[in-house]
Amino acid sequence: MATIDILVGTTSGNTEYLADQLSEQLEQNGHTTRLHYEPDYTELTQELTQESLWLACIASHGAGDYGDSMLDFADDLHQQHADLEPLRYAVIAVGDSCYDTFCKAGRDFDQELEKRNAKRLVERLEIDMANDDPEEKASTWLNSFLQAL
Ligand SMILES: Cc1cc2nc3c(=O)[nH]c(=O)nc-3n(C[C@H](O)[C@H](O)[C@H](O)COP(=O)(O)O)c2cc1C
Repeated sequence: MATIDILVGTTSGNTEYLADQLSEQLEQNGHTTRLHYEPDYTELTQELTQESLWLACIASHGAGDYGDSMLDFADDLHQQHADLEPLRYAVIAVGDSCYDTFCKAGRDFDQELEKRNAKRLVERLEIDMANDDPEEKASTWLNSFLQAL
């Protein structure tokens, strides 16, 4: 079974906590996960194969910027325009609906990967920290992710 690389874009830790929970849940379902708290673009993209699989958990900050831990990765992703085929991926975007730029970083990431020929496994989950229970919502969404594998 393919290893799932979990990419974490966080500034204040909420998304890291969520990613840890998801990793545990995936491991309980028999999957192997690798958590990337500061994802390295070169490392993650240098040898993409049919098995490559990313679950990106990304908080929005600033005016829809990526969480701090993923700023370098985002710069590389948006500047290098690499072809990411045959990567498969899914996105959990974390944000707060009181911002006009709700979940913008996760949306940008999703759009960019699609442009780079990566294959979206399931529709992006958007978590609104103002209204949602993040763990419950993510846990329910994870079932559709698991089914798509
Ligand atoms: C300074 C600041 C800016 C934020 N900007 C946005 C934003 O542009 N869009 C959004 O959806 N959420 C925004 N948020 C909400 C965060 O995404 C939310 O608090 C999230 O839980 C932070 O996740 P983290 O702890 O993993 O960094 C912002 C929060 C802060 C404190």
